[in-house]
Amino acid sequence: MQSLDTLNKLDQKHVWHPYSAVQADYPVYPVKSAHGVTINLTDGRQLIDGMSSWWSAIHGYNHPILNQAVTDQLQNMSHIMFGGLTHQPAIDLALQLVEITPEPLQTVFFADSGSVAVEVAMKMAIQYWHTKNQPSKKQLLTVRNGYHGDTFGAMSVSDPENGMHSLFSSTLSQQLFVDAPCCRFGEPCTTEDITQFKETLAQHQQQIAAVILEPIVQGAGGMRFYSADYLRQVRELCTQYDVLLILDEIATGFGRTGKLFACEHAQISPDILCLGKALTGGYMTLAATLATEEIALSIRDGEPGIFMHGPTFMANPLACATALASLKLLLDSPWQKTVNNIEGLLQKGLNPCKDFSAVKEVRVLGAIGVIELHDAIDIKSLQPKFVEAGVWVRPFNKLIYLMPPFIISDNELETLTAAVVTVVKNL
Ligand SMILES: Cc1ncc(COP(=O)(O)O)c(C=O)c1O
Repeated sequence: MQSLDTLNKLDQKHVWHPYSAVQADYPVYPVKSAHGVTINLTDGRQLIDGMSSWWSAIHGYNHPILNQAVTDQLQNMSHIMFGGLTHQPAIDLALQLVEITPEPLQTVFFADSGSVAVEVAMKMAIQYWHTKNQPSKKQLLTVRNGYHGDTFGAMSVSDPENGMHSLFSSTLSQQLFVDAPCCRFGEPCTTEDITQFKETLAQHQQQIAAVILEPIVQGAGGMRFYSADYLRQVRELCTQYDVLLILDEIATGFGRTGKLFACEHAQISPDILCLGKALTGGYMTLAATLATEEIALSIRDGEPGIFMHGPTFMANPLACATALASLKLLLDSPWQKTVNNIEGLLQKGLNPCKDFSAVKEVRVLGAIGVIELHDAIDIKSLQPKFVEAGVWVRPFNKLIYLMPPFIISDNELETLTAAVVTVVKNL
């Protein structure tokens, strides 16, 4: 094993990290292992995980049941091509997803990452209208402050101005945007709140294949929680104007907001649903795009009679087997009670931040806690402070946020929030 210093130097010289640069002076911390909610750094320090590896590790790390699922599947095969072949883990997982998601969703396309699941959803919507002899319906309508991934299609429906993708704007497909919903979670959606969306939809319905939204929680585009009533009205309008509704539950899916899927807050179902992140309990990369039978059969019955997408690692058996085990763990647990308890402790623990001058707002929904600051943070100086305080938190822009694994104990969560309060107090 190389020394810590060597590891850091090699990493810095040769390895890209998310939204980072090589040979930059941002700190990255080598990790030796992770167990439960504890991340063990190579230098011996231990951190309480407040991020669930970006919404995914809901059962924590190194879970014996998930480890066993991987080991068992390895005895059969780690991968097999999905063109012309199929396997039990994929079939079982598809059935399970169909069972737990809203009823009209009957078919499952397995993709390799969240961004790809979004690409697949967009292509499905466009191909659907092509088969209906309405090829002019190929644009997407969405709201500002959204985030749907880093590939080109996903970038084209993510916030056009918040900096993450604006550099590429001239090369992206031109989509339609309206303002992000300003009615908040728990509030009604007034006629005024939905007017811009409704007018844009009405005016461009002949060009719009689908509306795409993150339901209830806008994640990386601002960690905003919006009105379930807004989402309900969006659903009604999509039906009224003959436009498909794609919901991106890649971040919100699998219990994070207090419902198994965030669309349940509005009691609606989409025509196409994207899942990812926590699907495998954060063990490996797998995502899924679910669609109604009507969409699937239209694609089958239209020209060219097949859906035009098929990745090499589609329905990877190791990932499918792990996802099945992760779902069983979740569904057999009192997850809703657990998430409610986390919600209460996040509220209580982060509340003191409301009094600090640097803080604009503190908001909590389910197992998501957000501290919005007045000014953008300097990640370079702030990240080491969280690490010194013994917690793993990865802020961005004006947001410091927590989304701990569901297995976090009350004590660990109190330690986590107390550390965050101390760091924020000294900003
Ligand atoms: C709502 C949403 N959609 C899509 C994605 C992209 O997923 P991935 O990073 O797995 O490509 C993300 C990732 O953060 C997300 O939060």
